[in-house]
Amino acid sequence: MNAQPETAYFTEDASVDTVNARISDDADARLKTVMERLVQHLHAFVKDVELTQDEWGTAIDFLTRTGQICDENRQEFILLSDVLGVSMLVDAINTRRPTGATENTVLGPFHVDGVPEYPMGTNITKVGGQETCRFYGTVSDLDGNPVEGARIDVWSDSEDGFYDVQQPDIQPRHNNRGVFTTGPDGKYWFNGIKPVSYPIPDDGPVGQMLGHLGRHPYRPAHMHFIVSADGFDPVTTHTFVEGDPYLTSDAVFGVKRSLVAKFEPVLNGETKWQSHYDFVLHQSA
Ligand code: BEZ
Ligand code: FE
Repeated sequence: MNAQPETAYFTEDASVDTVNARISDDADARLKTVMERLVQHLHAFVKDVELTQDEWGTAIDFLTRTGQICDENRQEFILLSDVLGVSMLVDAINTRRPTGATENTVLGPFHVDGVPEYPMGTNITKVGGQETCRFYGTVSDLDGNPVEGARIDVWSDSEDGFYDVQQPDIQPRHNNRGVFTTGPDGKYWFNGIKPVSYPIPDDGPVGQMLGHLGRHPYRPAHMHFIVSADGFDPVTTHTFVEGDPYLTSDAVFGVKRSLVAKFEPVLNGETKWQSHYDFVLHQSA
């Protein structure tokens, strides 16, 4: 009988080596590394919790339903990655910046391309919203020099906690969205409404999972920003409303201390609130 390699047949103890031995040396090097490590961690997890057949069946059913609810507007797998903290971890690893540079957070599913570009001072709220708010600040580099030509792409929910794309029959297109470009002083200012906290879509398997875990689906109130300029790393981020009750329990772990902004009442002003936030860009490598 021919001698078989140690890894030819499956055993509980050598499970990782047996699976990884089947990956060809000709496979893409990065793919091979990532898949070998995935198998290693996955098998360690299954062994650690001694997964039962029933539990594995439940997991397969959950993943099946997660895929089945996806369509061109709904991406339940990204939501799953968000609530498990994976989206924020991948973001953190890929957007390491020097101290002082504005921090990144999740993009989220409600960004839209092709939004109108407006002059500074425009009100991006087309309908609704008693809690009017002026957003303003400066875009500068790490040395404090203003950045001219910075593109500021902003979007927020309505006072009912929905983005325009979630309510195409109720809100006008591009409600609470706009794009602004800084002049030589790097300053930006525009009007909108003070955002409100809202639940992530929780009528699918991810929402059910949160329910089983005793977790709520809410995100603290925030304004989304993508700030980009030639020669600098683009920043995808939010400013969060100071004092929001969900700041320390964001369903998608998007809050960073440096992104919490003051929203101050304005007496006899054009808007009821104002929020000042300065963005600091890091020069691209
Ligand atoms: C958002 O802030 O728009 C968002 C982010 C992650 C999941 C759902 C919504
Ligand atoms: Fe959001």
